[in-house]
Amino acid sequence: MRLLLCSFFLSLQVVLLAQQGPYAPLYARKGMVSSSHYLASEVGNSILQQGGNAVDAAVATAFALAVTLPSAGNIGGGGFLVYMGADGEATSFDFREKAPLKATKDLFLDEQGKLREGSNHKGGLSIGVPGTVAGLYLAHQRQGKLPWKKLLQPAIQLAQKGVPASWRDQPFREWLLEQGDEYASTAEVFLKKDGTAYAPNENWQQPDLAQTLRRIQKKGAAGFYEGKTAELLVDYVQKQGGIITLEDLKGYQAVERTPVRGTYRGYEVIAMPPPSSGGVALIEMLNILEGYELAEIGHNSALYLHLLTEAMRRAFADRALHLGDMDFNPNLPLAKLTSKSYSDSLRRFISFHKASPSDSSRFSQLYLRPESPETTHFSVVDEEGNAVSMTFTLERSYGCKLLVKGAGFLLNNEMGDFNPVPGLTTSTGLIGTKPNLVEPGKRMLSSMCPVIVAKEGKPYMAIGSPGGRTIINTVLQVILNVVDHDMNMAQAIAAPRIHHQWLPNYTRLEDFGFSKDTQIRYEAYGHNWRWYERQGRAMGIRMDREKQRLEGASDPRSYDGAVVGE
Ligand code: DON
Repeated sequence: MRLLLCSFFLSLQVVLLAQQGPYAPLYARKGMVSSSHYLASEVGNSILQQGGNAVDAAVATAFALAVTLPSAGNIGGGGFLVYMGADGEATSFDFREKAPLKATKDLFLDEQGKLREGSNHKGGLSIGVPGTVAGLYLAHQRQGKLPWKKLLQPAIQLAQKGVPASWRDQPFREWLLEQGDEYASTAEVFLKKDGTAYAPNENWQQPDLAQTLRRIQKKGAAGFYEGKTAELLVDYVQKQGGIITLEDLKGYQAVERTPVRGTYRGYEVIAMPPPSSGGVALIEMLNILEGYELAEIGHNSALYLHLLTEAMRRAFADRALHLGDMDFNPNLPLAKLTSKSYSDSLRRFISFHKASPSDSSRFSQLYLRPESPETTHFSVVDEEGNAVSMTFTLERSYGCKLLVKGAGFLLNNEMGDFNPVPGLTTSTGLIGTKPNLVEPGKRMLSSMCPVIVAKEGKPYMAIGSPGGRTIINTVLQVILNVVDHDMNMAQAIAAPRIHHQWLPNYTRLEDFGFSKDTQIRYEAYGHNWRWYERQGRAMGIRMDREKQRLEGASDPRSYDGAVVGE
């Protein structure tokens, strides 16, 4: 009898494990936040527990990340927020950085018309007019419930009292030890007064940042775009050779935009329109892949990887050719690119046996520039079932690594996301297509892809990731893992991922979880591939309405990430 009982429990356990996979999500009922820093997730969750809604928690989480995750969390950068209420209302907020009014399309060119190497990612000219504070303020004005002031308080406390210096930031602190005057204001904040680096977990205080956050707390967006913060920013940026003026800051406006929408196997996909390329490319890929029985084909089998690659190749070609800031490109073919009929026509030319060429006739060979994983995504769901999916960034890790003296925050190098040399696309990594050329006041094209997947008109899943162009493919694969492969949120996020971006013509496979057999079969289709260390840091929450619970996970690829809920 005892044996029987044992084997009964054993088989029950096996069934449960089969459903769960080796990764367990966190469950909660009263709201949840999944972000790249445990302290920021705790801040967001505590706002939810104090009666805040998902937007309130998102605002507080974002400001907390500006303190705890300086590589990507920010007030000196920009991003996108997608919102869907439990009532089915969906909207999005675009707070992407803008080119300063003095920017010209040859901003980064020398007298011979050649790109001044690195100039679009380094130094004062690489800095776009920041959007984060305006975006959070606008989202709060439209959808927030708790007072603005309350949402800033936790971040101010963290900056004032200090946070444990993260292992994540150690290489940056060590890099600063080697730098000269150029990064003096950054070193003042990231290094100790005696010029040495903080040890991991030592308390790290940011009093200037606390003061800046207090000004934002008191005056809202004006506490950043006008007055002392604005003056400190402009003074500092201009000393670094930048061209941002007080007029640029005062004139910056975040925009509420109608999300792009698609459907996938009965689910609705709600995502960012341009200047993010994320939503359009994601929907195009999902539309192509809907035509295949992916569950039957099998997760990460060679055929599965082949079909994903073919969808990626096509969507990324369209991204490069067609997308840019809508305000400057009024005729973007969004409806066509996201239509089922367009994807049907693309699918007709996908072979089950052979990789298609990445036609380089228009762009010659593009170099796949390494994408640092810095940018950060978080997802929030409140007790009522309202959801926020938000991604924001400084572009590269720590942006341009210049920190506004006296104001305590790092600046982005987002100007590097524009196509720097008009008409020139080369093997050294330039794209020269028109929709994304530098123009004064224009927003640069982004790959950030915060998404809400809805079921029966209500939010079902909030998901997103950092990782430059890999973002869109990371989000795609997490959605497929949940919808097609029935994985829980933790399993879906942890599973190994691939990335193809049309050109150059090779695929990156994460260096774990793909068998030798799969590699050989994948190659036999004609695909080139390389190993890649880690792709993205996805943060997701799913709502299981039947079981009346939230299911969340933070990516095991992140250093300090955590999902917190009650
Ligand atoms: O907006 C974008 O697409 C990029 N600036 C995001 C950058 C990122 O994820 C980090 N890696 N390059």
